[in-house]
Amino acid sequence: MIATGGIGVFDSGIGGLTVFKALRRALPASERLIYLGDTARVPYGTKSDETVVRYALEGAAFLGRHGIKALVVACNTMSAVAVPALTRAHPFPIVGVIGPGAEVACHVTRSRVIGVIGTAATIKSQAYTRAIACHLPDARVTGRACPLFVPLAEEGWVDNDVARLVAREYLGDLRGGGLDTLVLGCTHYPLLKQVIGEAVGDGVTLVDSAEATAAVVRDRLRERGLLAPEGGGTAGRGADAGPPGDGDHFFVTDSSERFREVGSRFLGAPVARLELIDIAE
Ligand code: DGL
Repeated sequence: MIATGGIGVFDSGIGGLTVFKALRRALPASERLIYLGDTARVPYGTKSDETVVRYALEGAAFLGRHGIKALVVACNTMSAVAVPALTRAHPFPIVGVIGPGAEVACHVTRSRVIGVIGTAATIKSQAYTRAIACHLPDARVTGRACPLFVPLAEEGWVDNDVARLVAREYLGDLRGGGLDTLVLGCTHYPLLKQVIGEAVGDGVTLVDSAEATAAVVRDRLRERGLLAPEGGGTAGRGADAGPPGDGDHFFVTDSSERFREVGSRFLGAPVARLELIDIAE
């Protein structure tokens, strides 16, 4: 058991580290992040809603047992289908990535023609389309599943001919037609920003749901008086707290070595304090 009072960050695997990174930038250094990557059961994006909800409840229960004060659902697929069930099951605030990403897209677009890319489950759920309609009922939303971007990002093939070809194949026909905003609705896609941007053309703004979510989490915690103060010595770490990020903890359900290797690429820093767990423990 780790010290209570941290923020849970839950993803199906490694990709949620893009959200972790954005949170780390947006939150006070003294805030502790407890990351869970369900690497044994990833991908969630090809699974049925029922299975994703079940996995989501199991993972959130694990984090709940570690005394988290809030939960960030970093995975777009889980955010798309499981947030209502998670909210019913837990008393702590729960923030998914769909609402924040959709809201930023609505602020950014001028043409009101918005693209959303994500896993098959995220696109099928139409969760982004519904969230966008709350702000801009007359927006035209085109969803596109881009499953191959996930293994490309994990392989580190983010800026080569293969990545460019795949991006052109998925997205080339979105050029023209007035589209001016594209939501990167999957944890892995920010790593492919460059090739995705090239495929859709210069005039299209890419919205990173991870960045948008981090800002919402900070505001939500502050409103509820749950945000750790700036500077060290809070959130149960004591006055002798180490440098920023020292209290962070990573849990995975399979192969911590792969998580360490690929994760450090996603984070741009080594993954410290990593533990392999049984989610039911
Ligand atoms: N984390 C997932 C998402 O953002 C991508 C990987 C998966 O399919 O589990 O939708």
